[in-house]
Amino acid sequence: MNLILLGPPGAGKGTQAEQIAAKHGIVQLSTGEMLRAAVKAGTEVGLKAKAIMESGGLVSDDIVVGIISERIDEADCANGFILDGFPRTLPQAAALEKLLDSKGKTLDAVIELKVDDEALIERITGRFSCSKCGAGYHDKYKKPAKDGVCDKCGSTEFTRRADDNEETVRNRLMAYYRETAPLIGYYFAKDRHQSVDGMAPIDEVTKQIEAILS
Ligand code: AP5
Repeated sequence: MNLILLGPPGAGKGTQAEQIAAKHGIVQLSTGEMLRAAVKAGTEVGLKAKAIMESGGLVSDDIVVGIISERIDEADCANGFILDGFPRTLPQAAALEKLLDSKGKTLDAVIELKVDDEALIERITGRFSCSKCGAGYHDKYKKPAKDGVCDKCGSTEFTRRADDNEETVRNRLMAYYRETAPLIGYYFAKDRHQSVDGMAPIDEVTKQIEAILS
């Protein structure tokens, strides 16, 4: 099963992709995570991406298409994958289609998470994650069971993303409406688009996605 999760920054793509990937034994492919890893490692791609990501702009299509093309060839993607944050432009969507065709793979669903704009800023500015295992949390909506201790690995170190400040979030939203929102019409025209109410609580959104997948 190969899926795309579409939605603005903070819509819950990463949160839901993690759940669905675990449940269906497929791989979560987040271009944002891959780019952050490249920035951290100081690779050539990371050096090109760093300033763009910090400003809230989009990294070039060539770079992200190259990353995804290589990644979906890896053995763990044979069962399927869930794309979180890719494609993000019409040229990326066209490149993905070509890629999947050339590899004999199909796209089974494109699911949009619909969330009110006002909620996005609050979700992003309240987000943090475990420095050790990467588990994601929120100051209000997803607190660790024990304050200051990661539910998954017990670490007490947490971190916030460099691009999770209000100014950058507004630029990311602008990039979403300019470049990514047209993909909703693109996949609707291809009879692939479905949507869920991303304003519902996290578990409820997962149930709506599962209903589509089943
Ligand atoms: P990326 O990492 O993809 O960031 P994004 O799209 O801005 O998405 P986020 O990770 O911010 O949000 P999310 O939808 O995953 O929300 P989450 O589940 O964490 O990209 C970062 C940058 O990389 C881009 O700006 C760009 O520069 C570059 N990039 C990446 N891919 C690219 C591409 N293809 N082309 C070009 N450039 C690219 O949820 C947010 C918070 O809300 C969490 O704290 C969560 O706990 C909480 N939450 C989630 N769901 C709910 C709910 N239902 N109710 C209440 N709270 C909720």
